[in-house]
Amino acid sequence: MENIIVESNQGKALAIPHNPLNQRKLYIESYGCQMNFSDSEIVASILGGVGFNTTEKLEEADLVLLNTCSIRDKAEQTVRKRLKTFNALKKTKPKMKVGVLGCMAERLKHQFLEEEKIVDLVVGPDAYKDLPHLVEEIDDGRNAINVILSKEETYGDISPVRLNSNGVTALVSITRGCDNMCTFCVVPFTRGRERSRDPQSIVEEINDLWSKGFKEVTLLGQNVDSYLWYGGGLKKDFDKASDFQKATSVNFANLLALCAQAQPKMRFRFSTSNPQDMSLEVIKTMSQYDNIPNYIHLPVQSGSNPILKAMNRQHTREEYIKLIDNIRQIIPDCGISQDMIAGFPGESEENHQETLSLMEYVKYDFGFMFAYSERPGTSAARKLEDDVPEMVKKRRLQEIIDLQREHSHVRTKGHLGKIEEVLIEKTSKRNVNEWSGRNSQNTVVVFPKANFKVGDFVMVEILDCTSATLIGRGLKLSEKSF
Ligand code: SAH
Ligand code: F3S
Repeated sequence: MENIIVESNQGKALAIPHNPLNQRKLYIESYGCQMNFSDSEIVASILGGVGFNTTEKLEEADLVLLNTCSIRDKAEQTVRKRLKTFNALKKTKPKMKVGVLGCMAERLKHQFLEEEKIVDLVVGPDAYKDLPHLVEEIDDGRNAINVILSKEETYGDISPVRLNSNGVTALVSITRGCDNMCTFCVVPFTRGRERSRDPQSIVEEINDLWSKGFKEVTLLGQNVDSYLWYGGGLKKDFDKASDFQKATSVNFANLLALCAQAQPKMRFRFSTSNPQDMSLEVIKTMSQYDNIPNYIHLPVQSGSNPILKAMNRQHTREEYIKLIDNIRQIIPDCGISQDMIAGFPGESEENHQETLSLMEYVKYDFGFMFAYSERPGTSAARKLEDDVPEMVKKRRLQEIIDLQREHSHVRTKGHLGKIEEVLIEKTSKRNVNEWSGRNSQNTVVVFPKANFKVGDFVMVEILDCTSATLIGRGLKLSEKSF
């Protein structure tokens, strides 16, 4: 096997295995969440089976696929703009085919083929196994579409082609879909109902990654804490399962323990946790295993009870604070990050202040912050007026971002003087003589390369910091490296 280079939408060059028997070239770009990046690896694997190798060169592609995101209007506009840039290319390469995958495909369905003449192929997130057949259709000169959502599909039997690979960290999806119906969110419409993947296939994938030299896995799902395997089927049908199925079911805490035990020297991260589903059992399991990092991404969206209610989040501010207290009690040095939405319909200045005061209480390590973007078809779009003026949304968002930056700095300062285990992922962007990796709390740490190499777990003394990065000195390999 030789290696070729492909490119992600972040513009990063990536090496992937290359099958010399494959004749056709696939160019795939992913947008949005980690699940999309993971799905693109599944798509590359499926198309690898029918004669496609991936390429980083758009101009030599036979098939161009965009794996799209619908979460905010801006994400969709980015894809539309990108499609326009393909127009000129298609004129010079009339045989080149263009397909749209992912959430926009699912949301817009046939409308996509009508609105964007350049598109030949539209495939929703649960229909990727139909790609070989759909590609035959477009080869015959017809447009092809499959946007059927599934009750069972988890792609557990597909071995992904690692597109995004630094050879050290990998994404492994464990659930698909979401049943939560947060009123602002388009995901339940584009990714369907929630279902979990067979734990055995997850452990097999992890063992395979370990044998290939990977050192860290992120278990992925829209709501990982609600993972529940009882032999297959939708999460919402668990009540109808037999007593035997119920007795032998595997929940997220069980799955974490299974993974941590299967590969004791591999780190297991997970994303995303929904506060309402995060159990004490999960927090305790994290504390029991040295190879489950002390870090939780715990989106809250707002610190105000009436807004949380209007968002259909299933917890109050007080319950969220209790959860944070429990985490800090069981895992005192746990890193915690947030997602926040500024300017949800009806959000008053007082509601916004409650978000800021919740942030003051938690002092998150970092966060992902957004201005509310109305999504067609969601309950918020149908029932609530998008009434916070754009200027006000922007100002509130900026206040949230500024406060987060302060807190991030408080948090990074808290690491000064400590000796922490860091997994080296790559050369630092700022300095070719330094490594970049992450500590347990998921904070980036840079330090001089010395004799260490990518994939090493290194004990690093933290000497300095910015609000986002820790700067240190590598002392020695940690026990996980042996
Ligand atoms: N559970 C998911 C959440 C997906 S959406 C996960 O795996 O991450 C990621 C974040 O986008 C949400 O937590 C929310 O903060 C933000 N978001 C979702 N819909 C939005 C909207 N309509 N406008 C603004 N931000 C939104
Ligand atoms: Fe979206 Fe809420 Fe699910 S944010 S992905 S509906 S947990």
